[in-house]
Parts: sequence; structure tokens; C-alpha cells
Amino acid sequence: MEKLEQLYEGKAKKVFRTDDPDVYLVYYKDDATAFNGEKKGTIVGKGAINNRMTNHMMALLEKEGVPTHLVKELSDRETLVKRVEIVKLEVIIRNISAGSFAKRFGVKEGIVFDEPTIEFSYKNDELGDPLMNAYHAIALKVATREEIEEIKRLAFKVNDFMKDYFKKRNIKLVDFKLEFGRLPDGRIVLADEISPDTCRFWDADTNEKLDKDRFRRDLGNVEEAYIEMEKRIFGENK
Ligand code: TMP
Repeated sequence: MEKLEQLYEGKAKKVFRTDDPDVYLVYYKDDATAFNGEKKGTIVGKGAINNRMTNHMMALLEKEGVPTHLVKELSDRETLVKRVEIVKLEVIIRNISAGSFAKRFGVKEGIVFDEPTIEFSYKNDELGDPLMNAYHAIALKVATREEIEEIKRLAFKVNDFMKDYFKKRNIKLVDFKLEFGRLPDGRIVLADEISPDTCRFWDADTNEKLDKDRFRRDLGNVEEAYIEMEKRIFGENK
């Protein structure tokens, strides 16, 4: 597979065309942003960890019956993925209150919900990714009713699997963000990434934050948190 021209550069990844029109190459950077790009920095080694973790989780999810865009890991920062049209929704599942949820509803972080919640944001940087409900998404043709039903079904399935997966590694899966894509034939697949950039992970004993909140909130030991999450998943073997 040949790497051809860059199609797109996002905040944490670059996407390249390949000689197969149905396959793109994703390159994971160490760049980190927060608050819609207002805060910028570097998390050394993050690109490689996020690439490895995302591919591992997607391969496991495929086995659970969640279709994903994953084709093949090429190197420590590069992965081949199926060409999809990204659905312009950020899909957020929460098991425990934190972040914008705690702020919006004026509650503390750490309330364990009886049932997970789901919310959507409209993926639009100029607007700062505003909250969007299913009716808004249908009205604006961001997704069809059927696509939203499928996205919800898959997102809760991802949560059921990952909650249990991380619990076994002594990690609480607090919340996470997913993105979905449409294959050329219209089928919905999980896309983007699953990493400490896009999930909140708390140590189950200490509630220590092991994710990008360490960068967002200047908590220090940012790189160490990513390395710790890699260890919880893969053990010590590099
Ligand atoms: P929030 O509490 O800030 O809304 O974040 C919820 C989850 O979504 C959290 O795990 C971090 C993730 N997230 C992203 O992946 N990208 C984003 O741009 C934002 C705001 C949150």
C-alpha cells in the first residue's frame, strides 16, 4: 500500500490517501489541544500509545460485533482505515459524572449513574461543537433517524464491553467520545479513536485521573498517565 498525499490534518491526527481509493492512512501526532484548540501542547509519545490502544480496542470490538473502520496497523503511529464519511456527531457516553456534565448540571464529579447517558454534539469547530439532540440532527440532515438508532445501539454496546474490559484492569471508565462513519455502501462503522484523549479513565482504587484531563487541567504527569494506561492494557511488554 502506497502512502499518497495528505487529505486532512486534524488536531491529533493526519489523514493520507493511499493507492487504494477505499483505504486511508491515519498518522497519530503527539499534538494535544483542549477547549476547542485554545490550549495547545505536546504529549510526548501520545501518538504511538493512542494508535496502539485504538487499534487494540477496535479489534476487540469487532469480535463483539461492533463494525469499525480498522484495516491494519502499519507502524507505531500509522494505521490503514476504511474510507468513510464521518457523521458530524460527537457521541458521548457517560457512566460517572465529570467534565462538562458536572459543570452543566452543577453537580460534583464522581456520581455513579444507575444507567449510562448518551448525548450528541454537532462536530463543528467554528461553533465549538454545540450539544445537538436527535431531532436537531435529523432536521439538519446530519444523520437519519435510522442512522441515529444504529449509532446509539453501537455506542451502548461499546460501553458495555469497555466498562467491563477496563474494570478488569482496575480502571473506571468514566465517560468517552465516539465518532462514526458511513462506508460507501451506507453502513455505519465506528471510526476515529479510543484513547486517553477521548476517554476519561480513573484508577479504581484512588480515582487518580489517567487521561487527557491531566493536560486539560494542568495536573502534571501527563505522559506518565498515558504510559500507565498502556501498561494496564498491554502489560510491561513494549
Ligand atoms: P466533556 O465532559 O468535556 O463533555 O467530555 C466528555 C468525554 O468526551 C471525555 O471523555 C472527553 C471526550 N472529549 C473528546 O474526546 N473530545 C472533545 O473535544 C471533548 C470536549 C471531549
